[in-house]
Amino acid sequence: MSMPLLPATPENINHAAARLRAGDVVSFPTETVYGLGANATNGEAVAKIFAAKTRPKINPLITHVPDAESAHRHALFTPTAEKLAAAFWPGPLTLVLPRKSESPVADLVTAGLETIALRVPRHPVAQALLRACGLPLAAPSANRSGEPSPTDATHVAESLGDEILVLDGGAAPMGLESTIIGFDGDVPVLLRLGAIAREDIEIITGRLADAEREPERPRAPGRMFRHYAPGKPVALNVTAPQKSDAFLSFGPAPQGAGHVLPLSESARLEEAASNLFRMLRLADKTNAARIAVAPIPSHGLGEAINDRLRRAANTT
Ligand code: TXA
Ligand code: MG
Repeated sequence: MSMPLLPATPENINHAAARLRAGDVVSFPTETVYGLGANATNGEAVAKIFAAKTRPKINPLITHVPDAESAHRHALFTPTAEKLAAAFWPGPLTLVLPRKSESPVADLVTAGLETIALRVPRHPVAQALLRACGLPLAAPSANRSGEPSPTDATHVAESLGDEILVLDGGAAPMGLESTIIGFDGDVPVLLRLGAIAREDIEIITGRLADAEREPERPRAPGRMFRHYAPGKPVALNVTAPQKSDAFLSFGPAPQGAGHVLPLSESARLEEAASNLFRMLRLADKTNAARIAVAPIPSHGLGEAINDRLRRAANTT
């Protein structure tokens, strides 16, 4: 049966909530990227996510809840975790915390780990859906494993096919996945760069330990897999694009490229973040021989943008 993209009206949100309660998967917008959600307490429903994404089952999922109070039912919060939740929830922050034994979340969601990843999204459609279904929702990004995350409802249908019900809430405003913080005792550890810049987290925590630079720190299992990879070769820090390039520009575009895809003409990192995955998809659809990307400054959201670009170029 073929599913249309459903505009995220109150009626369609209620319909999607009923489907989630019945054990189906539904894609919905968040402020970061589109998620592919299922009832986190129903292992069979969660298994449908792994099947749709062709995702390795050892890679755990984020559990989405409507507020911090709900999150406390699933995990033990450290003092620093409390501060981060107060500062950034609802919003694009995921906290990985010790799981409470009474949490009803299925083991498949946490891949059998003793920790659980929790996020309170602030997108109004995600909020309305969580409240309408009254369930914690396990939701990875709604793409096949190895593809860039979807920032538009149409990307979800392109990536996962038209069997999946998609609530269309327009373009995801931030365009980069949530920042993930784990804990070593109460010491916060950056597990994934994302839509909240490191500097903004460090205002609350002080200097953050970095899992990828300090190999003895706990890691996010998903960081090991090939990710964000377009089909064409990707070249980074290109200042003189060639005629055969699809060029992702930052600031005024130089002459020479066959196709120019502006990440941000005014050189704003927030705008570049919101355009990144869409431009990678568009570049991949051109007849260019390779995707070339302008240098992106490495401060603020630029650090996360460069992380995703290195993965797209497969140089990490
Ligand atoms: O913005 C986002 O975070 C989006 C939206 C839909 O919420 N979701 C998302 O999910 O990016 P996903 O599955 O694509 O990435 C989740 C990451 C994976 O790298 C996974 O390994 C890690 O979170 N993760 C989940 N549970 C974990 C845990 N208990 N310990 C460490 N890492 C965990
Ligand atoms: Mg993902």
